Amino acid sequence: MTSGPRAALPSTPGRVHHRRFGLQARVIIAFGVGAALVSAALALSTFYFVRRDLVSQRTTSTLRQTLANARLVRVELGAPSARIGDALASVATANGVRSFIYSHGLWYSSSASVSGTAIPASLTQLVHRGDVAYELVDIGAVPTLVVGVPIPAIGISYFEESPFADLSSTLRVLATVLTTVAVATTAGGALVGWWASRRLVRPLTDVVHVASDIAGGTLDRRLPDDPDLQPLVRAFNDMVTALQRRIERDARFASDVTHELRSPLTTIGASIELLGQYRSSLPSEGTTALDMLHLEVGRFTDMVQELLEIATMDAGAADLQFSDVRLVDLVRITVAGYDPSIPVKVEPEAEASCVRGDKRRLQQALLNLLDNAETHGGGAVAVSVSRRGDRAVVAVDDAGPGVAPAERTLVFERFYRGAASGRRGDTEGSGLGLALVAEHVRAHGGEVWVADSPEGGARLAIALPEEAL
Ligand SMILES: Nc1ncnc2c1ncn2[C@@H]1O[C@H](COP(=O)(O)OP(=O)(O)OP(=O)(O)O)[C@@H](O)[C@H]1O
Ligand SMILES: [Mg+2]
Repeated sequence: MTSGPRAALPSTPGRVHHRRFGLQARVIIAFGVGAALVSAALALSTFYFVRRDLVSQRTTSTLRQTLANARLVRVELGAPSARIGDALASVATANGVRSFIYSHGLWYSSSASVSGTAIPASLTQLVHRGDVAYELVDIGAVPTLVVGVPIPAIGISYFEESPFADLSSTLRVLATVLTTVAVATTAGGALVGWWASRRLVRPLTDVVHVASDIAGGTLDRRLPDDPDLQPLVRAFNDMVTALQRRIERDARFASDVTHELRSPLTTIGASIELLGQYRSSLPSEGTTALDMLHLEVGRFTDMVQELLEIATMDAGAADLQFSDVRLVDLVRITVAGYDPSIPVKVEPEAEASCVRGDKRRLQQALLNLLDNAETHGGGAVAVSVSRRGDRAVVAVDDAGPGVAPAERTLVFERFYRGAASGRRGDTEGSGLGLALVAEHVRAHGGEVWVADSPEGGARLAIALPEEAL
């Protein structure tokens, strides 16, 4: 037989969510990092190849232009009265191109404003040896092609510096675009990771939900078929089926045992009644023993009755007769039948409250609470009916010692009779009353709990889902 607090089972989603977050975060990070690496590699290689292509195209066209200019210089300086300055001026130099002539150890430049050049010495040497040479250098962060053309016929060398300024701005735009795309791809990757992780953990979330439903007592829940998780689903469902069978077998056993106890108890009860008729002829020890026997058998009979009720509920064999019940009427009738002096307070909005329930069971639950108030709290001082959202709440208040906060879930356990009650056998009760109440309330989809009563004692409250009339 299962035991444990039946009231307001703690739910576990918080912990579940926390655990899921770890896996999800890892998947998101993996996707994000993967996307970042791939997009960075793509961006870098695209940039590299585009740059190489553009530079080689520009180099070809610049070389062609420089060679044409060199031929022009050669023609100009071929004339007898030619001057180097005129020759330089005649060369078409657009877009910041600077041209130089090296003649007999002296440099001549097309632009007067700029002194000095970035022409590498190695290149100059190559040209002086009679080769056409070129090299890409950076002048002030601008890639610049330096070309040197020897003109041995007139004993000079012609040089040109062509900055690829437009090229560098094109490449800057390209770099910006590629970076933006890479960042967007990374974010996209993380997003896909988030989506994939959700899909990934969904079957596990199902497992968690089903498992917590089962833990909450809904034993006929099973995992749906999932092609990815077939072995897990099968093992899980088999396990639950085995568990359910076992629990049902235990419950049936308990129910059978209590059932079997009933008839001998009835016989014993009847025999004690009979013995009672001979009470006057018994010695005083005999009457004491008879009284004790009477008391204990009465208690035993009650306990067996309660146990049988609980066992029937456990075995799922309780046949609850559901009907629409006007809660206020039920409470008024029950309280009036129990003790008409107990006031019933009804909130105006609860006046029409209707629940779907088994009248006998609901009445029994309320009677158990009234009994407890009587036995443990000096009698109920008020019963109230109110509303809490879409639930109707019936509360029984007493002015007794109340229930300590630490005991507020324990009191719903089977055979729990309170820390203050001392040894078993000290009190009349068997500790099954509230367990049975919790069982009944649960069968109605409701909740039961203990709180402080405004009258100073305990308040036992039952909340039941309301039925729309
Ligand atoms: N109104 C109350 N005030 C103080 N303590 C209470 C009250 N109701 C219940 N309790 C405590 O909770 C314990 C469990 O209650 P429960 O009704 O389950 O068992 P019982 O009353 O001892 O026995 P039974 O109802 O089976 O005859 C009680 O023994 C008592 O210690
Ligand atoms: Mg009781």
